[in-house]
Amino acid sequence: ANNRTFTMIKPDAFKDGHTGAITKMIEDAGFSIKAMKLTQLTSETAGEFYAVHRERPFYNDLCAYMSSGPIVAMILEKDNAVEDFRKLIGATNPADAAEGTIRKIFARSLESNAVHGSDSDENAAIEGSFYFSDLEKIK
Ligand code: CMP
Repeated sequence: ANNRTFTMIKPDAFKDGHTGAITKMIEDAGFSIKAMKLTQLTSETAGEFYAVHRERPFYNDLCAYMSSGPIVAMILEKDNAVEDFRKLIGATNPADAAEGTIRKIFARSLESNAVHGSDSDENAAIEGSFYFSDLEKIK
């Protein structure tokens, strides 16, 4: 469905105690939460999630970082969800992110960039189903 996206609050933001503030920004921006889970990846499951980045030089570091602590996974719903959520989180590198975006406010660095946002409707569906069964998704 083109009205859903998938996000994770990444280990840096969770450790820094920003889960509540980030979730509030997401809801205040008009997204409704359709699934939500606190969990921790292993480096193997992180590697599966980020399989598209397998050939990138940062892949091993990314898998280590993403399995370094708990993450909060969510499925979010809103008209134009994928594009609007990417605007809300800002550029991948917080140094390039616009003022007021989640990454500008909460991210530590290019790697430890606070949140994930799906880059397409297709990936939103794949990523949501990576974490959540149909029973765990609100209709
Ligand atoms: P995201 O775009 O959500 O998914 C891929 C992640 O890899 C990205 O967030 C960062 O956490 C990380 N990443 C992307 N580019 C780099 C890079 N050049 N160096 C280190 N980490 C990166």
